[in-house]
Amino acid sequence: MAAVSNDKRPVDIHQSPPLDLSIPYNPAWVKGRTILVTGGAGGFGAAFVRKWAGHGATVIFGDINTEQGDQVARDIQKETGNKNVHFVHCDVTDWQSQVNLFKEAVKLSPHGGIDTVVANAGIAKADILQFPCDLSVAEPKQPKWQMLDVNLTGVMYTSHLAMFYLPRNPGSKNCTPDSDPATAPRDRHLLFLGSVASLAGVPLSPQYAASKHAVLGLFRSLRGTSFAQGIRVNIVCPYYIDTPMMPAFLRIAIAGGGLGKVEDVVDAATRFTADSRILGRGVVVGPKIKLKPDDNGELKYLGEDADIQPSAVWEVYADDFQYTDASVRAIVNSLNAIQKAQGWIGWAKDCLAALAYGVGLGGKK
Ligand SMILES: NC(=O)c1ccc[n+]([C@@H]2O[C@H](COP(=O)([O-])OP(=O)(O)OC[C@H]3O[C@@H](n4cnc5c(N)ncnc54)[C@H](O)[C@@H]3O)[C@@H](O)[C@H]2O)c1
Repeated sequence: MAAVSNDKRPVDIHQSPPLDLSIPYNPAWVKGRTILVTGGAGGFGAAFVRKWAGHGATVIFGDINTEQGDQVARDIQKETGNKNVHFVHCDVTDWQSQVNLFKEAVKLSPHGGIDTVVANAGIAKADILQFPCDLSVAEPKQPKWQMLDVNLTGVMYTSHLAMFYLPRNPGSKNCTPDSDPATAPRDRHLLFLGSVASLAGVPLSPQYAASKHAVLGLFRSLRGTSFAQGIRVNIVCPYYIDTPMMPAFLRIAIAGGGLGKVEDVVDAATRFTADSRILGRGVVVGPKIKLKPDDNGELKYLGEDADIQPSAVWEVYADDFQYTDASVRAIVNSLNAIQKAQGWIGWAKDCLAALAYGVGLGGKK
């Protein structure tokens, strides 16, 4: 592998600058957008749907739990008065089921496109790698990798469909850190749900950790190229958070360490979704804690009595592209060159598409 540049020269991947989480964003920027969420019948998914529908977005969510999904859609419609909240049965491990979810979302979208896709559905179960084989048999049975199926294959399907449908969002523009989220609501955004298990091993859950490491790898790779299709990608990595995914034994295992709150995960996901200037960034979300950077930029715990505001959201994996190897840089530079060469042709195509849309020939696909 070629040497890594040590001159800190940033590679032009159209990534936005480090997040300043003290700068407020307006959740109302999601108004008028169409958002697709997988696994929206419970936990974070249902909380995202509730928040974004409350701010005037159209939200289409899929889940395997039909009864709960229907109920959540009805409840949120009633609470928010927003009728553009729709549940569609979807098993993310089934390709055709996800294709159906995306097609339904396009049909139900008032503007005929999808602005944000949230690859949220995920499961955590007792891990069969922890309880391996009955050693008395001649050979072990073929294992079923249920967590990899949902958390990795399901997310890969969602990403593949997002890469197809987001650029077909009529009237949307290529993502850029220079956009104005208040006036440019049409977006092309793919948001991943990673985990602290994306960043560190989890001794009792190797399969879960493997699936979430893979999601992080997907995010880190895609953010180097997705700008070529005008798509921004971001990732939220929650710590242990108080949802139905957390079984009693895990709550006991982390007792004393603190559980994070769903509202903080919703806050992080809403910042990414609402603020179209954020490209290629990642955050962890945990219990609220008082940390402050020291003179070397390292975060230090100051104790609960310290006179600063606690925070639950911290940026991670912000700058790895600045130190990337030559092969990655060559690919990214080529993409930039292609994009530049296509400049005028791309502009003319977009203008024709916008005119066609204006006279009713674009619209729903
Ligand atoms: N809760 C946590 O502590 C935590 C921490 C880190 C990351 N996460 C991640 O956040 C995401 C959401 O987790 P959560 O805590 O809200 O979980 P949850 O169990 O509360 O909700 C997950 C939802 O996904 C649905 N689902 C499961 N399998 C599905 C499938 N095959 N197809 C479609 N839908 C399916 C479930 O029915 C449920 O409604 C997951 O990706 C999870 O790995 C959660």
